[in-house]
Amino acid sequence: MIQKLIIANWKMNPQSLAEAMELFNSVKNWIKRHSNVLKNIRIIICPPFVYLSNIISSNLQHLTSNISLGAQDLFWEEKGSFTGEISPKMLKNLGCQYVIIGHSERRKLGETDEMINKKLKAAIKSKLKPILCIGEKRREVGSRKYEEIRNQLKKALKGIPNSLFQLPDSLIIAYEPVWAIGTGNPCKPEDAKEVLTFLRNLTQPLFHSTTQPLILYGGSVNSKIAKDYIEVGFDGLLVGGASLDSKEFIEIIKSVAKC
Ligand code: PGA
Repeated sequence: MIQKLIIANWKMNPQSLAEAMELFNSVKNWIKRHSNVLKNIRIIICPPFVYLSNIISSNLQHLTSNISLGAQDLFWEEKGSFTGEISPKMLKNLGCQYVIIGHSERRKLGETDEMINKKLKAAIKSKLKPILCIGEKRREVGSRKYEEIRNQLKKALKGIPNSLFQLPDSLIIAYEPVWAIGTGNPCKPEDAKEVLTFLRNLTQPLFHSTTQPLILYGGSVNSKIAKDYIEVGFDGLLVGGASLDSKEFIEIIKSVAKC
């Protein structure tokens, strides 16, 4: 059975390794105690690069069943003179399985669709599972409603043969309306469902029926509304702010587990 994914995007938080370890351990310890009711849920934690190594090395035996690690970005080149960048192989060799690509906060800093396309190709080549973020900047109405996300998806996937997407979670798409991120103003589940249907119709002919991408919702998710997105058909959630509070994040996991 396909698992529901709950992804924690810690962004540029917390400020010390001690706090990062505490946050990770409190979520992990709860998951360990409740693994019997979490069979169909995979939790993916995406901390800043600088904490990945410590978290992975002190949790090797736990990073298998319900809980995995992801990075928040990567660079498309394999190695060389690219000051400040992190290669796909570095992440893979460290034990990362997933990587967020094209987050709107990176797009805002100048990341283009072409760069996102290169990053996606590089992730696939290194067998990292990409979490591709797409979402419209402002609420659109009328016939051009989905134009922006259609273009983002088309450009991100340009030149990637669908034969490269072999497993059900080999491509994860996170629908994150930019106006809903970090605003405390989530997209209504029924409106998000409309976009989900649009995305499923768009991706359906591009992928083999067994390798359809998983589609997640992200944008001001909290424990009160988390399950509503699963109930309208999303395969999981990408959680930002609420993932920094272990109690709130655990409440989100609990509510999805009950779906
Ligand atoms: P948020 O962030 O949950 O704080 O809105 C989501 C994201 O940016 O991935």
